[in-house]
Amino acid sequence: MTQRSVILGTGSYLPEKILTNHDLTKLVETTEEWIFTRTGINQRHIAAKGELTSHLAIKAAENAIAAANIDKATIDLVIVATTTPDIPFPSVATKVQAGLGLKQGAALDVQAVCAGFVYAMATADSMLKNGLATTALVIGADTLSRIVDWSDRGTCILFGDGAGAVILQSQQSDRGILSSHLSSDGTTGDLLYAAPTIHMQGKEVFKNAVLHMTGSSREALARAKLQATDINWVIPHQANQRILEATVDKMEVSKDRLISTVANHGNTSAASIPLALDVAARDKRLKPGQNLLITAIGGGLAWGSCVIRW
Ligand code: UT7
Repeated sequence: MTQRSVILGTGSYLPEKILTNHDLTKLVETTEEWIFTRTGINQRHIAAKGELTSHLAIKAAENAIAAANIDKATIDLVIVATTTPDIPFPSVATKVQAGLGLKQGAALDVQAVCAGFVYAMATADSMLKNGLATTALVIGADTLSRIVDWSDRGTCILFGDGAGAVILQSQQSDRGILSSHLSSDGTTGDLLYAAPTIHMQGKEVFKNAVLHMTGSSREALARAKLQATDINWVIPHQANQRILEATVDKMEVSKDRLISTVANHGNTSAASIPLALDVAARDKRLKPGQNLLITAIGGGLAWGSCVIRW
């Protein structure tokens, strides 16, 4: 047994309002069929007026705390991965702390866009291993609908809002985060940026996504001394079904090991992996002892992966 950061529970939250592909045909020149065949997306959830990233994050956190069955007073670290904080400061993480009635421990936001949850998990794992905290609440939460250009058919069809959360606890265990790999390349920043709305060179981002998620997954697997064949489930950032399938294909992992929620959620940025993780945990696809690979890429470009034993 090794000192590891073990996932004790997961939770998520999606705003009530659903925007379908059909709804989008009324906003931009597109078809339901184009959106589904090019992206695998059917619908996405959109935050209501006044419903902020911290509100989604708090609801996801409450669900994760209930699933983990812990006393929330034991949480001594809150990390929120987000690119769409309510306001520039205070951080969403401190708002979550306050929303949960917590007064102890540290709280900070991590900004690595769609790779944010992987960055937050690796950061929390390092802090737990260094003894800075014992129980972490790690959240991915975004309301990208607020920075989407709703007249750009190349991007507005992709994104949705949501939040997902996990409770990580430092324990002597065979389970937990086995390895992480993080990387970024600021020279590719112009491929995907928000100023003030989202601009994207779709085809280039697509190619980079498959290349870097595959490369980073291999690095994380090597650090965990595992092969691709040892992986039971791959949960990539839910960007586009074609990207997810191309990534597992390139890794020579069978498609039936891919967890995809992109059809129902769209691309929810930092929330996408913890949302998918929560769906698979609750429908019992994930079984104790199985090896999970999470991998993501986003603006920066920044990318990374973690290997986790469930
Ligand atoms: O979180 C990470 C960030 N994002 C991603 O990972 C997204 C990465 N990229 C993608 O998912 C894809 O590139 C898109 C889904 C955005 C686009 O798919 P594509 O197969 O790369 O299409 P394209 O951009 O090359 O566009 C093909 C055609 C173009 O028309 P022409 O130039 O061939 O006449 C576009 O103008 O499709 C047109 N098009 C559309 N047509 C109908 C672009 N958007 C739409 C649309 N409806 N919504």
